[in-house]
This record gives sequence, C-alpha cells and structure tokens, in this order.
Amino acid sequence: MSQTSYPHLFSPIRIGNFEVPNRVCHVPTDISSANPDGSVNQRVITYYEQVAKGGCGFIIVGASTPDKATGRPTVTCVAVDEDPLIPGLASLAEAMHRHGAKCSLEIQHPGRQAAWPRHDLISATDQVANLPASAGHEVVYASAEAKGKSIRAMSIEEIYDLIDKFAEGAWRLQQAGFDSVELHAAHGYMIAQFMSAYVNKRNDRFGGNFLSRMRLPLEIIHAIQRKCGPDFPIGIRYSGEEYVEGGRVLEETVRAARLFEEHGLAFLDISAGIFEAPGPLMDPMYYPQGWNTYTAEEVKKNVKIPVITSHTLRDPDYCEKILAEGRTDLVGLARQMVADPYWANKARAGRKEEIRKCISCLVGCWQESLMIKRDMRCSINPAVGDERFLHFGPAAEKLKVAVVGGGPGGMEAARIATLRGHKVTIFEKSEELGGAILYCCTVHGKSKMRWYADWQRRQVARLGVEVEYKSVPTPEELKGFDAVLVATGAAVKRPDIRGIDSRRVCTFQDVLRCKMKNCEYWPKGGKAEPAAVGDTVLVWGDYFGAADAVEKLAYEGKKVYVVTPHREFASWMEPVHKDVMVKRFAGGNGEALSGKTFAHPVTVIPDSSLLEIKEDGEVILIDGSFQRSALKVDNVVLADVVADEALFRKYAEAGLTAARIGDVKQVRNLRGAVTDGANLGLVLDRDLGLNANQALIADLPTENRP
Ligand SMILES: Cc1cc2nc3c(=O)[nH]c(=O)nc-3n(C[C@H](O)[C@H](O)[C@H](O)COP(=O)(O)O)c2cc1C
Repeated sequence: MSQTSYPHLFSPIRIGNFEVPNRVCHVPTDISSANPDGSVNQRVITYYEQVAKGGCGFIIVGASTPDKATGRPTVTCVAVDEDPLIPGLASLAEAMHRHGAKCSLEIQHPGRQAAWPRHDLISATDQVANLPASAGHEVVYASAEAKGKSIRAMSIEEIYDLIDKFAEGAWRLQQAGFDSVELHAAHGYMIAQFMSAYVNKRNDRFGGNFLSRMRLPLEIIHAIQRKCGPDFPIGIRYSGEEYVEGGRVLEETVRAARLFEEHGLAFLDISAGIFEAPGPLMDPMYYPQGWNTYTAEEVKKNVKIPVITSHTLRDPDYCEKILAEGRTDLVGLARQMVADPYWANKARAGRKEEIRKCISCLVGCWQESLMIKRDMRCSINPAVGDERFLHFGPAAEKLKVAVVGGGPGGMEAARIATLRGHKVTIFEKSEELGGAILYCCTVHGKSKMRWYADWQRRQVARLGVEVEYKSVPTPEELKGFDAVLVATGAAVKRPDIRGIDSRRVCTFQDVLRCKMKNCEYWPKGGKAEPAAVGDTVLVWGDYFGAADAVEKLAYEGKKVYVVTPHREFASWMEPVHKDVMVKRFAGGNGEALSGKTFAHPVTVIPDSSLLEIKEDGEVILIDGSFQRSALKVDNVVLADVVADEALFRKYAEAGLTAARIGDVKQVRNLRGAVTDGANLGLVLDRDLGLNANQALIADLPTENRP
C-alpha cells in the first residue's frame, strides 16, 4: 500500500542488525495461554499471528520464564528454559515472519511477583510485599500472612545461576529464529527488583549504589553476548519512573539508558511503574492517551539507539504526531493489540474508524484472567483466546432474529449474527443505542467507554442491522421471528422503606444521563439534562452505578456519602481501577495523574443500610450491629440493580424462542454482556432451540420450540 496518512508510523526503522517495516510495536503482553510446561501451542501462535497479520512491524512476545521451577510470571506463560521448547518457539517466530513482522521475545523472571510457585519465592530482598493487583497475589488465601507467603533474598551463587539461565534462554530464542531478545526489567519483577533502590536493600555487590544495582542487568547482557555472539540484538524494558518514594525517577532512567547503550543494547523500551503503585503500570481508564510519552522523550534525547514508548496509545493520529515530533522511535501497543490486532493495517488503509479501541477496563485481560490464573480474554474482543470467533462461517439457515435491548451485549449479538448471515432487528426502548455505557461514559476518567459504544454503533450501521427506536415489542409483534434475544439489562432496586418516593430520591441513571449535544448518534439536537442534585448527596449501593455516581458527583464538587451493605466498598472492582478510585475518594489522585481532584473526600459508610428518608432530607441509617444513626443530605441516589427478567418471562411464556444476554441473565459487567452476546450470535442456526438452562443451542431437538 503506497498512500497513507501516517507517513511516520509506516516508515521503516533499523534495530541492531535488522530492519522493522514500520514503527508499530506490540509491547510484551503475557497472554498466559501456553501449555503447562511452557511450550508454545496453537493459541499462542494464533494470537501473535493475528497481530502480525494486522500489520504490526515489531512484535515483542510477552513474558517468558527462564526458569519455571523458581518463577513463572503467570501460570501458563511461555518458557525458554529447556531445549525441547525450541521447535514450538520456532513455529511462533515463523508465524510472525510469515506476515513480514520482526520479532523479539521478552524473558522475565518474576521474583517476588511469581504466580507460580506460591511459596519460597526468590527476590533481590527478603521483604514480603503485599501487591493485590499483581498476578503474584493469592486467590486462595485472603492475605499474605494467611498464606504463609515467604520471600527470600537470592544468594550470590543463585544470582549467577539465574544470569546463566537468562543467557541460555536467549540462545534458545536465537536458535528458534527470533530476531532479538528483550529483558524484562520493569514493573517490579526480578531485574527491576535489583535495579530499584526502593526494593533492593542488599549490601553485597548486587545492591547499594547505582552501578551495583545495575550489575544484574549488565551481567545478563554480557552473558547473552557471550552465548549468542554480537549479532543477536538485545533490548531492555524498564520503567521510566516508579512513582514510589525511593524508587527510580527519570534522571536515573536516563543514566541507565546511557549505560545500556554503552554496553551494546540495540533498543530501549520505556515502560512505567511498579506494582506497589499499580496505576501507572497498568494504566486504567483514568489515564489519558500518551501520558507516559514524556519518559521516552527524555531518554531519546540522550541515546542514539531506538526508543519505544507505551501506555494508553490508541489513536493513530496521536501516534503519528509523537513520531513526527521526534519524541519516540516506535509506538508500543499492548492492550490495544488485544482489543484489535488489526490496528496497524486499519490505520494504514485510512480506516481508523473501524479500529476497536481498547477502553483500558482491565477486566477481560487482567482481573478475570491472568490475575486469577487463567488464560487471557478481552471484554470487547471475543476472539481473544476463543478461536471460534476467528473462523466462523455463515449459518446453514438464515434466521430472522430480534434483539430486544440495544446495549453492548445486544449489539454484539446483532453484529455476530449479521456477519453469519442472519436478518437482525434491534428493538431499543430509548432513542439511542449504547445501553449502560451511556451512563458510565459521562464520568470523568471513564469516557473511553464511549469508544466502544461508538464502535458498536458504527458496526450496526455498517452491517445494515435494522434498528427500531423507542420500541418495546409485545410477544405478538415478535411472532414472526425465529429467535428473540433479550438484552434489556438490569433495573434499579427501589427498596420498600419509608420515604422512598420522596422528591429527594433519584436513580444513578438520572444522575449519569448523557447530555452530549450534536452527537452523530443523536441527530435530534440536545438531550434531557441529568437530574439536578444538591451539594450533599448520599449514594446507596455497591456496584458500577454506585461507583460511577459517586465519582461524577464528587468530581462536580459535591459532598458525597456512599452507603454499602458490605464491609468494603467496591470489593468486586478491578483492583487497579480500585486503587486509583480509592486515592481519588481520599482527595488525591492516581500516580502520574494530574488534573482536578475532589473538593471533598468521599465518605464510605460500610456495613449499613437505609431505614428512612425524611422530607427535610434527614436519612436514618442502620448498621450491622443494629445501631441507628442520622445524616442530613440534599438527595439520595439509588444505585443498586437487579436483573430485570419481566420481559424475558413474558416472551418465554408466549412460546417465543427467547434467550437472555448480559445483566438480564445475571448482573455482571461489560465483559459478561459482550461475551453472552457473542456466544449467542454464534450459535444461532438451523434447529435452534432452548436447553434446560434457557440457553440457545443448535442442532439438538428440544420440546419447547414454538
Ligand atoms: C494482560 C496484560 C499482560 C501484560 N504482560 C506484560 C508482559 O508480559 N511484559 C511486560 O513487559 N508488560 C506486560 N504488560 C504491560 C503492557 O505491556 C503495557 O505496558 C501496559 O498494558 C500499558 O500499555 P497499553 O495501554 O498499550 O496496554 C501486560 C499488561 C496486561 C494488561
């Protein structure tokens, strides 16, 4: 392809002894999908081959262990610690080369952050760290003490043994045909543990001053150079800043960069953070695009070797700009490649509107997968880890399908079903598609959610899915459809307490209502304003609606109380988001974030419920010990939800072949809804029916077919 609006993004660059066809780099992402012995399998090959097929020029495969026995970053990471693993690694390299990409693979010893083993972890120090957002946390035990987690400082002999293992691992990659190797020295994993003055408290030659802390990476580099010769390029990934007191700051990062260049490294991959402060490391939705570019920019001013920047890069225009301005040599995309492996080719072809931009939710790829020792998934890309979605063909019989409810689950079902040739109509009760996303995307820091709603709305239009707005069809009106997919979401709970109908009571949906003007999906002009609330507000609930309402109101300067029946508010929340949210509740911010903070800290009232809402705004609370208390507020926001099955029951009782998607089935999250929608879209076919669990199946006779 000759013409592109992104000349810098699609210009080649030399790294060591090889040329990369463009500046798009897949920065390492451990998809935890290898076999239990660390050998590469088809799932791993498929994932990386998709990224290569999608036009990415330089792919750095996610963390692999140099020593399974002492540390796996995730339980099913790739391993490079035995020669019999070489053929699988070679197939992986071949799969990427087939599409013109150059490839590297990251070697990582996790040290204290190992997902496996769970005991006797080795590290630079013997300091036990409680890192609830890491894959090295325990899902089996409640706390580090309870699980008896032990960490010990490595002996000098063990360190030299590990150095040798890194070199052996690199040599295996070289044998397998990889173009280079990358060392993982970021995020508080083993090499970072030695490099960071915050973690490394050793008093031998591997600890103390800057050069002693740099000894481990330098010794590994020299060992690889000895083992693989001068023609096997080595890169390193490390954090530009660690954002903890005593941790690395940019000045030392630049010093380290010069040292790495002197010692023959071919490229520098500047990441961010350490798990003690997980925000910058795994940058949740709150982090704006390119917030970490400043670190690579500073490094680049001081070295000649190529520099990669990463973290919340999503938009090709932004990526082109930072390349054109000379602030980086390559742009590094991790979660973006998970959400859409075809990012590069879509950008190159001038079809950026079709890019499914990662919303940084960390639910599919982290909370509900790697963190809990499972292989990787994605909230918005059902094809990750599930190849059925890469290879599906047209349905044997084209059906007429009704989707009732145009939220993310309903739209995903409509999309997949239409791609398979079915004729789909979405019935949406409001005047706009988007469902629950249209509430949370109005919260400061969560506007990325809208990217996905917009992408879906574009797909629905592009595929010609029919949409009936302001429509809740009766069973009679749906008689002509072969299948009815009900995606009507959850309803706000209205507990039966005194004062519930007071004028002071509203719902989180009233508060979060989107009022965007001149929206391309809302051509009718202005929308209804969100509910006006007073200066002091009580939010009652403990799920997304509650968290979002609290954040929006506190951001607007209100004094907010949140009443939860649980001992802790939002224990269900993805932990990196929670870490940042809790800091914002306290009046602060996530590390590296700037901008407006809350004028009043948020007060969480745990283990409590409301008994009464009085006309003058006095609210009577009761806690788990039956103690009553009173609070004066201007408004109460109801924010608990319950699956709203009424419509589904009505359809099923009328004999329609109906199935549920998303919160109407069980209140979960975006990933739950999208996965349900995708799965149903995929099974719609001849001999469709319902099984005993009210799930649609195909090719099996059932009695309850209309
Ligand atoms: C599921 C997941 C796995 C990751 N695995 C690795 C890894 O193996 N090595 C690494 O250096 N960083 C890893 N990271 C960090 C990413 O490479 C990247 O730095 C981070 O996600 C921010 O960039 P992004 O916004 O492009 O995703 C991982 C991140 C996620 C969410």
